[in-house]
Amino acid sequence: MSHSFVGTAAEAVLKSGAIQRAKYGQPISIEHKGTINLVTEVDHACEDAIVALLRERYPDHDIVTEETQIEQTGSPYVWYIDPLDGTTNFAHGYPCFCTSVALAHEGKVVAGAVYEPLREELYTAERGQGSFLNGRRLRVSNATELINSLLLTGFPYDVRDDLPGKLRMFNKLMGEARAVRRDGSAALDLCFVAAGRVEGFWEETLYPWDMMAGNLMIEEAGGRVSRFDGTPIGMRADEILATNGRIHERMLQLMQS
Ligand code: IPD
Ligand code: CA
Ligand code: CA
Repeated sequence: MSHSFVGTAAEAVLKSGAIQRAKYGQPISIEHKGTINLVTEVDHACEDAIVALLRERYPDHDIVTEETQIEQTGSPYVWYIDPLDGTTNFAHGYPCFCTSVALAHEGKVVAGAVYEPLREELYTAERGQGSFLNGRRLRVSNATELINSLLLTGFPYDVRDDLPGKLRMFNKLMGEARAVRRDGSAALDLCFVAAGRVEGFWEETLYPWDMMAGNLMIEEAGGRVSRFDGTPIGMRADEILATNGRIHERMLQLMQS
């Protein structure tokens, strides 16, 4: 039986989400990767399940995954896995987390899936074929002004190294947007832009596994993703501005001011 790439990505995130649902609110073992950067047994269990599925289906493909360094073979196909995006939320029982899986071919993301297991929301996208939430086509929102926009952001685990710098943009946007939220799951934040639930998202110091699937969702829903200077984001993740396209220029202006 043949499986589509997006079908496999969806299967992978659904398997991972089932593990998360079963363990949510239960006692779990938690370790520290840094002062405020946690990893739980659930991150590892989800990662193992996803890697096993991808290995079985595509033994020649490379895999980049957050919790384990896997040697790369130079395959043109590379899977990017965030087994549990929103680990801090999960560890606290805060209901905002997901799994993100994306496939890149020759440096371009071609398929992706994100699953939020508590609301049972499955986001899927294939390059050129649109993005979907539980099978329903996604479109970004129509808002054109920041005063009518709900924005999302996030902060990296090293935020305390330069708190004033990291809050500069937050302060500017709090002064112009209708509201700004910080919810702790970048992959889900990006899907919310694609779904038109919010108008924009920005963050510094993400990793490819946080954003590859979400970026594709947004582009396929008619939105725009760039670096803070407006140039294409490519496969880099050190800074990201993702919007419905309509508020992009104003956000770029604020970022550069
Ligand atoms: C984190 C979340 C968070 C973002 C951090 C990420 P993790 O991912 O996406 O929203 O602000 O930058 O590292 O560690 O929960 O997979
Ligand atoms: Ca993450
Ligand atoms: Ca993670």
